[in-house]
Amino acid sequence: MVMKQLLLAFAAAVLSSSVVSAQGPYFDFYKLSLQWPASVCLQANCITPVPRIFTIHGLWSTVKNDTRVYPYHPQNNNCYPGPKSAADAMTAVAPIVPALNAKWPTLLRSNRPNPNAVFWQIEWDHHGMCSDYGDDPLNYFTVTLNLANNNTYDPFRVMGVQPSNTPHPIDTLLENAKRNVGFYSQISCRKIGQQLYLKEIRYCFKRGMPPTQLQNCPNEMDNVCTSVPPLQRNLMIP
Ligand SMILES: *[C@@H]1O[C@H](CO)[C@@H](O)[C@H](O)[C@H]1NC(C)=O
Ligand SMILES: *[C@@H]1O[C@H](CO)[C@@H](O)[C@H](O)[C@H]1NC(C)=O
Repeated sequence: MVMKQLLLAFAAAVLSSSVVSAQGPYFDFYKLSLQWPASVCLQANCITPVPRIFTIHGLWSTVKNDTRVYPYHPQNNNCYPGPKSAADAMTAVAPIVPALNAKWPTLLRSNRPNPNAVFWQIEWDHHGMCSDYGDDPLNYFTVTLNLANNNTYDPFRVMGVQPSNTPHPIDTLLENAKRNVGFYSQISCRKIGQQLYLKEIRYCFKRGMPPTQLQNCPNEMDNVCTSVPPLQRNLMIP
């Protein structure tokens, strides 16, 4: 009798855990993307002054094969059950707006009122709603800020370089980063003419709340970097 009850309890536990995971967001890891404004702003209509710090692009729930799960859609991509709306998310982040303005500004100039909030809403719609924080925007944005502000992930420290007029082989940047944080990150490039520029560095974190454990990124370069032959992948960091 006791055995039977135990088995029933076990079966119920297995069933409920599989139901929960089937409804939860489906993805494997988080990608934290930090952008170098001077590269993003080359030949672009940007805010002035252009920030001289790496700013946040986003924290993206990503599948093993390196595709992102975004965006949330109530029918086609119900990646998180009942996520908070973008409007609710903006109300929730009110206490951290100064920190978000400092580290997560939109770089492109816009005539819309409150362009930073427009950027955050897009990131929420596309990525926050498909993260483990779908019902908790304040924590989604706070966790992202904490990672981006952590000196451990300071891109210049990690890559061992500073902005200059000298290009750096992309492999040097990737290997330096691997040596300093223990795992391969991903570099995203801008290409103007035949010259590559360092646009973003992306760190891949094992799924967790909060994500803290790095893992290798599946691809060390984006398609723009690899559109240039390997020996010509020398990146300017303006
Ligand atoms: C990546 O994996 C997801 C989930 O399994 C799948 O929906 C998607 O089609 C895959 N994408 C590619 C390019 O293989
Ligand atoms: C920064 O990240 C490291 C590595 O995960 C962690 O040990 C440390 O506590 C973090 N620092 C802060 C201030 O969160």
